[in-house]
Amino acid sequence: MDSAFTATPDEAAFWAGRTFDDFLFRPQKTESQTRRTISVKSLLTADIALDLPIVSSNMDSVTGADMARAMAMHGGIGVVHRGMSIERQASEVAVVKRSQSAVIDSPLCLPMGTSIRQARRFARQHGITGILIETASGSNVLAGLLSNRDTPVHDDAAEDRVVDDFMTPLSRLVTGAPDISTDEAERLMFEHRIERLPLIDGANRIQGLITRRDINLNRKQPGASKDSAGHLRCAAAVGARGDYLERAAALLEAGADLLFVDIAHGHSVIMERAVAGLRGQFGNVPLVCGNIATSAGARFMRDIGADAIKVGVGPGCGCRTRLETAAGVPQLQAIREAYLAVGDKVPIVADGGVKTDKDIFLALICGASTVMLGSALSGTDEAPGHVIQDPATHMKKKLYRGMTSPEAVMEALYDSGSSEERDAALEIPPEGQEIQVPYRGSVSTILQRIRGHLQSSVSYGGETTLAAVREKVLPDPTAFLVPLSAAARIESYER
Ligand code: XMP
Repeated sequence: MDSAFTATPDEAAFWAGRTFDDFLFRPQKTESQTRRTISVKSLLTADIALDLPIVSSNMDSVTGADMARAMAMHGGIGVVHRGMSIERQASEVAVVKRSQSAVIDSPLCLPMGTSIRQARRFARQHGITGILIETASGSNVLAGLLSNRDTPVHDDAAEDRVVDDFMTPLSRLVTGAPDISTDEAERLMFEHRIERLPLIDGANRIQGLITRRDINLNRKQPGASKDSAGHLRCAAAVGARGDYLERAAALLEAGADLLFVDIAHGHSVIMERAVAGLRGQFGNVPLVCGNIATSAGARFMRDIGADAIKVGVGPGCGCRTRLETAAGVPQLQAIREAYLAVGDKVPIVADGGVKTDKDIFLALICGASTVMLGSALSGTDEAPGHVIQDPATHMKKKLYRGMTSPEAVMEALYDSGSSEERDAALEIPPEGQEIQVPYRGSVSTILQRIRGHLQSSVSYGGETTLAAVREKVLPDPTAFLVPLSAAARIESYER
């Protein structure tokens, strides 16, 4: 039974029933002159640090390749959702892993003889603007380069012609040696006014590709989340039953850096078996497991070998779990319970319920190492789904929905399930709902704002790094938090 959490009676009473809007943070004296240089770095797992401790939710209205790429560019990470076929999810991960690094080491190729129509589809599917053309399928010998400037516009007759007719052939291409330095590559690209530099060996075999865009992005985003080979990091979600091992294998093959084993009630034998299965097949691959909301749940996750624990049952704004089942723990209490249970041994990802940026800071100083956001990042260009315009108000909106909403469940099964699976899914009462959120432009603006606000919070915490504030506050946040009366809450948070 899990009826209590491991705190002193006073501390237990302090946290009972509390969540973000119940507190303010007591401002501390600061030595800091500027907030812009304040580091908000934090750990996702013991081995993976994030320059911005924000994770985008594995929801079909939040994270596909575009969101995951933007998250990593800004120093966070995205978790590609699993409401789609294994092949599609793996290809979304591959798009992110391929999208930005100093050198793309296995660039995508098409063979000579491919039609322009096929090449166009291939470029769209993989989100690329230049395709290396090889002499024959699988030869890996460079024949030329087809950029989107080479492909004819609005010319139906040209669609069936072959790429050979439009590409820049190898004889006219500027290429580099496989071990070329970034500076030298940049110099060559500038000198020849070109955007892409294929890298080939003495036998013209393709060994890599450098693009000017990637070099520029690398310079602009020094805090981007990258793996040891310089590729953007990308996480992906798997379930705990059915095809989860096959899915995990495809995602890891596509380059996923870590897996989120995500089920609604993570404190379960199903989770235990799934983690054992994943460990048996994939060894030490980093696993973030969830969701739980209690100290016993956190200890359970630690004991089955989770590398990070996702905390949150029902706080999210697309969630109906609490309304329909009464299960849940107020989110700040859940974070603190989990932290008191496992301490710094297993990092905590606080998942759900963030309505304003101050909630992120509160989660981080009460026990979370990173914070997962769903609705806060939805409605952006990078979130999947179309912008819709309300005919009455002309307001632009996007859809945001819980992953167990009927709409999300059905769409996932249309992509990968049988009609029996669809019928069975419809019989389970939903614990998620669909809502419309205002369209909010690029997620970059939101992530920059979050970083800025976190830096300010750290400054009010009297330190120059988030790590230092956490170290100071985590042993006893009760000394730093001001509980609010109803009147104080209105004064603080109602505008
Ligand atoms: P926010 O508040 O950031 O929450 O929008 C995002 C988190 O909500 C969870 N989630 C669900 N919870 N039923 C639930 O009870 C659902 O259908 C559902 N879909 C998503 C999830 O943990 C996500 O990260």
